[in-house]
Amino acid sequence: MQQEKIPTIFIVGAGLGGLSLYHALIKNKDKKEFNVKIFERESSPTDRWQGYHIGLTNYGTQSLLNCIPSSIASNLPKAMPSPIPGVETHGINITDQVGNVLLAPPIKPYKDVYELAKISRGLSTIVTYRDRLRDVLLEGVPVQWNKKCVKYVETQEGVWVSFEDGSQEFCNILVGADGINSPIRKQKLPELQIFNYGITHVCADISVPKHLINKINKINGNILACKTLGTKGDSSFMISRFIPIEQEQNDKKDEPHYRVTLVYSYPSELNNVDVESDKVKVDDNDPASVIEHVKRLIRTLRPDCELTDLLLELWDLAPKTIPNGPIKFPFKTYNPVQRRMMQDIDPMSIKSWTSSRVVLLGDAAHAMSPVLGLGANNAIQDADKLSQALLKYTDNNISFIKEYEKEMLKRTSADVLKSRTVTFKSSTPIGPFGVFIRDSILKVMNVMINFYNFADSLIFKN
Ligand SMILES: Cc1cc2nc3c(=O)[nH]c(=O)nc-3n(C[C@H](O)[C@H](O)[C@H](O)COP(=O)(O)OP(=O)(O)OC[C@H]3O[C@@H](n4cnc5c(N)ncnc54)[C@H](O)[C@@H]3O)c2cc1C
Ligand SMILES: *[C@@H]1O[C@H](CO)[C@@H](O)[C@H](O)[C@H]1NC(C)=O
Ligand SMILES: *[C@@H]1O[C@H](CO)[C@@H](O)[C@H](O)[C@H]1NC(C)=O
Repeated sequence: MQQEKIPTIFIVGAGLGGLSLYHALIKNKDKKEFNVKIFERESSPTDRWQGYHIGLTNYGTQSLLNCIPSSIASNLPKAMPSPIPGVETHGINITDQVGNVLLAPPIKPYKDVYELAKISRGLSTIVTYRDRLRDVLLEGVPVQWNKKCVKYVETQEGVWVSFEDGSQEFCNILVGADGINSPIRKQKLPELQIFNYGITHVCADISVPKHLINKINKINGNILACKTLGTKGDSSFMISRFIPIEQEQNDKKDEPHYRVTLVYSYPSELNNVDVESDKVKVDDNDPASVIEHVKRLIRTLRPDCELTDLLLELWDLAPKTIPNGPIKFPFKTYNPVQRRMMQDIDPMSIKSWTSSRVVLLGDAAHAMSPVLGLGANNAIQDADKLSQALLKYTDNNISFIKEYEKEMLKRTSADVLKSRTVTFKSSTPIGPFGVFIRDSILKVMNVMINFYNFADSLIFKN
């Protein structure tokens, strides 16, 4: 009898989703063995900025812990340090334009990532360093760098994958974990389109000195994620960890500094409006001009108040030039401060999803608005579910892929649409009466959510 060949799986994209899948397949190798190869278009782990903060939820961490072996899990505290009791509250407060709290969803306390992963009801989040999580997940993974996938050709038994360097390789299953602009998705499902919100956002990763953090905390308490709603369709978002970052020797300031991600969103029409009547050129290759643009919008759209002054002060900390050469504290690489379009992909927006040996995972299938912080969680959940489905792999029956897709489509489409609704709700310009209505609704919701959570905690012990 012919010996059974070990099937080959290619993962294209070494982001959070692709790497989680890699670990899960290796972890399961006693149950089902695969040849796994993972390809990444970046040239090295430090090729580009890998992001400051993402939120990992109880569901995301559960899946992450399912995927990774204990040797990797033991490094997780580097990327997701446990909340510091009394110093950090891992949750979100939403305030109005002057800093009055409108919505403060209840927070379930947890000690560390293991306790977080056990929370089975509601949504709890830990603010995670994306760059360090990527590093932790890269450990021991033989990523093939500089391998940009450009297209594939599917046959009965498998898939021929072509790379930009001209090479071609064969696999039995191709997993596209290649992010929102996935060439694999574009080829597999050309009719699945990216949806544009008409909202622009600018994101900056900054290091904030302690005295400014104290000012933020005076308004928001020690909550790590703060959103403030403007009245002109603009909103501001801040997500931090109150753990001092190590500074380089030559940085003379003794004051502790903290990692803060700052986001300002506004209706894209405002890119064309001359808000202060003087002609200003915004060039996305010139960070100083983008930061000036954001500050001008804040000055124009926001009322005169302490919160507005604080936002302006924070935006002043964003790097105004593109650094060249090795970069000092706190940035190992540089996050270009640019205007970006808010986009998503609803995977259920097309009539049918063709199931084949080419499978999608993460942002490639269902990029979503970052407003609820669910993107990375769904990518990691996909990896977990797909690795379980692959246990059923046989050479001539790939219906396990359909089973994975069924669950994935339902879960992620719901989150894409939820995130879309919340984004639009907080981006609609409103007049004074509208402000009154909005504030009243959110305050009532706040009371109700907190009440139901209280009732819930009486009924369920978790
Ligand atoms: C550099 C970076 C920084 C980010 N920063 C943040 C952040 O600060 N906050 C936040 O909320 N979210 C951030 N995100 C998005 C967040 O990580 C994703 O929403 C989430 O992790 C989904 O993961 P994913 O694995 O599906 O895709 P991603 O994490 O986007 O990974 C996709 C990977 O595929 C690679 N790739 C793309 N095309 C090809 C190709 N043709 N061939 C080979 N490889 C390819 C990309 O280089 C990337 O490494 C960031 C994403 C990236 C890539
Ligand atoms: C968030 O809002 C609540 C409710 O108004 C407020 O009491 C609290 O100080 C704010 N910050 C934190 C960390 O909860
Ligand atoms: C193919 O596999 C699925 C399980 O993934 C199973 O339910 C189905 O019966 C199989 N079909 C055939 C023809 O073996």
